[in-house]
Amino acid sequence: MIVKNDYNLVQLQAKVQSQLSQYRFQHCLRTADKAVELAELNQGDVLKARVAGLVHDYAKERSDAEFISVIKQEHFDPDLLNYGNAIWHGVIGAYFIKHELGIYDEEILNAVRNHTTAAPQMTLLDKIVFMADYIEDGRDFMNVDEARQVTLADLDDGVRYQLTHTLELLLNKKTKIYPKTITSYNAWVAGH
Ligand SMILES: [Fe+2]
Ligand SMILES: [Fe+2]
Repeated sequence: MIVKNDYNLVQLQAKVQSQLSQYRFQHCLRTADKAVELAELNQGDVLKARVAGLVHDYAKERSDAEFISVIKQEHFDPDLLNYGNAIWHGVIGAYFIKHELGIYDEEILNAVRNHTTAAPQMTLLDKIVFMADYIEDGRDFMNVDEARQVTLADLDDGVRYQLTHTLELLLNKKTKIYPKTITSYNAWVAGH
């Protein structure tokens, strides 16, 4: 099937590949495939799902110095400096994607911004990318099959599942938790 769109997917894929290790590029391809599957299942925009899934980790292998200089020069919230790549590659990653890949669609950019922390209010595309990243076919963590089952049955339940398990993991590791992750957890899970 020929899809009419504004994105040259072949070119986009090559650009993403040029910035990533083979291992992470393959993860991006699998995330894009899973995002398409979730979009089809939930009546979402299949093309935006593919593009957002493909580019979501575009900036993941940038140096800390590069992120720090963008945070400072572009006047992002200085509190971001207290965190690291795990948070930066989403929030600041969207900046690189916009300026280097020429993707200006705010829906796609927001899905990238929210893909590690989720958000109290999420669009369908946000949820699709958040979950596709978590359950793509190469993932192999304990309970991944359960996570897949829950997500395929109900996307919102999947979001709750991931937020709960990620927060547990962060608490166990005694990692500093980015406030938005907690806000997301409170909105989606606490009290439900
Ligand atoms: Fe990521
Ligand atoms: Fe990812």
